Amino acid sequence: MKAYRAALLSFDPESGAPCYWSDGLLVTGPGEGGPAAPRVVRALGPFHELVRCYPGLSVEQWPDHLIAPGFIDLHVHYPQLDVIGSPADGLLPWLERHTFPQEARFADPVHAAEVAGFFLDELDRHGVTTALTFCTSHPQSVDALLGTAQPRGLRLIAGKCLQDRHCPAGVRDATEQSLLDTEALIGRWHGVGRLGYAITPRFAPSCSDAQLRGAGEIAARHPGVWIQSHVAENLDELAWVRALYPADRSYLSVYARFGLLRERAVYAHCLHVDEADRALLRESGSAAAVCPTSNFFLGSGCFDFERADRAGLRYGLASDVGGGTSFSPFRTMLAAYEAGRASFTGGGSAKVGVSLAPSRLWWRHTAGAARALGLDGVVGNLVPGAEADFVLLDPRATPLLARRTAQASDLEELLFALIVLGDERAVARTVKAGSLVD
Ligand code: GUN
Ligand code: ZN
Repeated sequence: MKAYRAALLSFDPESGAPCYWSDGLLVTGPGEGGPAAPRVVRALGPFHELVRCYPGLSVEQWPDHLIAPGFIDLHVHYPQLDVIGSPADGLLPWLERHTFPQEARFADPVHAAEVAGFFLDELDRHGVTTALTFCTSHPQSVDALLGTAQPRGLRLIAGKCLQDRHCPAGVRDATEQSLLDTEALIGRWHGVGRLGYAITPRFAPSCSDAQLRGAGEIAARHPGVWIQSHVAENLDELAWVRALYPADRSYLSVYARFGLLRERAVYAHCLHVDEADRALLRESGSAAAVCPTSNFFLGSGCFDFERADRAGLRYGLASDVGGGTSFSPFRTMLAAYEAGRASFTGGGSAKVGVSLAPSRLWWRHTAGAARALGLDGVVGNLVPGAEADFVLLDPRATPLLARRTAQASDLEELLFALIVLGDERAVARTVKAGSLVD
């Protein structure tokens, strides 16, 4: 068993309310399923009470640090590492000018493996222990990423992009072959250690009916496999979808018609949706990945947190690198807060933003994101039996952060200071349940 002493943050598994011990103990041990199984949380609670239950326990001391669940990035593109910070007049020109040319480079497995290694290092540096990521349309881009990820012990879900139309030759795939490749990649990677596969239609405009139909059929045959795509991000994109699918009630309905809304389906953005779409998401068990740094960078709009909450949507936070501008969960949580403040509600001319609580933002990037993935109680939280993914955070990592956190009078203030002023320098260590070296 391995144990860690520090301040400790987890969440109530039902309500998501924060649980906090200023002097806590986290006890981890081997999981069931042999030496290769991920380590799990055995117990957590106040140090002085809990340590008595484990005589002889060796405890790593992390004074003045905070243990918190590892972050979950609910939507990211590993091949867009070199697209970060590429300006364009909105989503569609950005895809054409910057994204597709970079993604075309992933036909080369050597390039893919180099980017994969850098990408996984970035996740680690930023405290991200689970991610749902796009690859490119080249199957070798999936092999490069998952092959590199497997020995590192994080939980990674990835998929080959399906895009057989409306994109350049270097990234366009062939309908039949793309579906055969998807089946083969599921067989090769899904459930291997902590890895998972996601069926990945890029977005409705880039997929033919035959490709979407095939993707839906594969999804029905493999209910444990994830689905990831984009929906309702940008107004030009919306108009394009309306022209391509005039008979469908909404953009989201296109995916519903092809059997692509279900548990374990995660749709990035969901900005320009209506109440019927929200009901469709909720009733199908699908989830939204909210990508605020990307939405600000591309000028796409702001997610409506209030309406999403009222509709009972499942959603979590995501970087959406490279539309997104940062791998940092702190940057993403801050942008989500700012998007809440900027949102117009009530339908009138008055601007009435919402103020999302720091602990709620944090939950949306950990346990709430796990719920969106259908991995409640498995990752994203520190509860007995969960996989032992966590970060050791240093609230004194920079002079300003130290100054501000020293004046925090309660947990919400402490978390808010970290959200606003924290970055990867505050991530002293990232512990992944599947890693053999921690
Ligand atoms: N819609 C289709 N593809 C993409 C992508 O790569 N990034 C974003 N943000 N939106 C998309
Ligand atoms: Zn995306």
